[in-house]
Amino acid sequence: MEAAKEKRKSVLSGIQPTGTFTLGNYLGAVKNWAPLQDDYDCAYMIADLHSLTVRQEPAKLRRQILEAYAMLLASGVDPNKSIVFIQSHVKTHTELAWILSCYTQFGELSRMTQFKDKAQKHADNVNAGLFTYPSLMAADILLYQADLVPVGADQKQHLEITRDIANRFNGIYGNTFNIPDGLILKAGAKIMSLADPQKKMSKSDENPNACILLSDTPDTIIKKCKRAVTDSEAEVVYREGKDGINNLMTIYSVCTKKSFEEIEREFSGKGYGDFKMAVGEAVVAELKPIQDEFKRLMDSKDYLEDCYRKGAELATKISRRTMDKVNKKVGLIVG
Ligand code: TRP
Repeated sequence: MEAAKEKRKSVLSGIQPTGTFTLGNYLGAVKNWAPLQDDYDCAYMIADLHSLTVRQEPAKLRRQILEAYAMLLASGVDPNKSIVFIQSHVKTHTELAWILSCYTQFGELSRMTQFKDKAQKHADNVNAGLFTYPSLMAADILLYQADLVPVGADQKQHLEITRDIANRFNGIYGNTFNIPDGLILKAGAKIMSLADPQKKMSKSDENPNACILLSDTPDTIIKKCKRAVTDSEAEVVYREGKDGINNLMTIYSVCTKKSFEEIEREFSGKGYGDFKMAVGEAVVAELKPIQDEFKRLMDSKDYLEDCYRKGAELATKISRRTMDKVNKKVGLIVG
């Protein structure tokens, strides 16, 4: 659209509240969310309903939802600039998810790699929610007519199916949903395990050294970096086949904003020991202000409650418009 009122593009993203955030979640996702607030109208949510697709302990989940919300704010997501809410508080998400599930094919859901992985991992609980997870995620995005969806590489397929569902719906009923684009974050989009750098860094890894948690103390962070698996060479260069070093260089680069060439120069002639120490220190420095702010917020529960209530109210108001439109288009009586 030309001229008229300059309208900012909109962004929506979400993160599941399962467990403490890892360095991977932070660098790969949440760290990139705050800067987007300067250029876009952003809505960020804690995807608590998505977490129910695997069995959770109720008391623990409740705590993790609040912690995840506090972590977003601690990372610079500002509830005065963005809509920051908890998915289950905004009833339009499940309402639209049902309708979209009727426009999502069994075949396409069966092809989702995340479904296949999780079905294998949780073979005793391959529930319908796990299967229709992408319809709920499509609802999250399409309700807000989002233009851009910042996600890690692992969510690309879910974004693709969201676009397919939206196009299909628009094809039948006329223009209803904006077709969102992914904002696949470049640097740090995928932080790998420190113990097995061919695997994604994950808090569910059995090896505690594989994953840096946002709640780790400086000593623990440094220890984990020192133990990171590398290779038998002694050259800090970014090169195919050097998965461990590539991963540490990515982490260091994201934390220090240095390019790979700068890092290679900085450590030429030095051993992996020096490099790992530097990575550990950079991570500690990066996380310190966030950890401090997180602690402060977790001591201000009333403030957090105030924020998520307001967020839900605003999200409900905006998403209701799309929801009414959809209900009408498919032939329901809008009450
Ligand atoms: N499925 C995403 C994940 O596990 C979280 C998520 C839920 C999300 N709804 C979303 C991400 C909407 C982006 C947009 O990481």
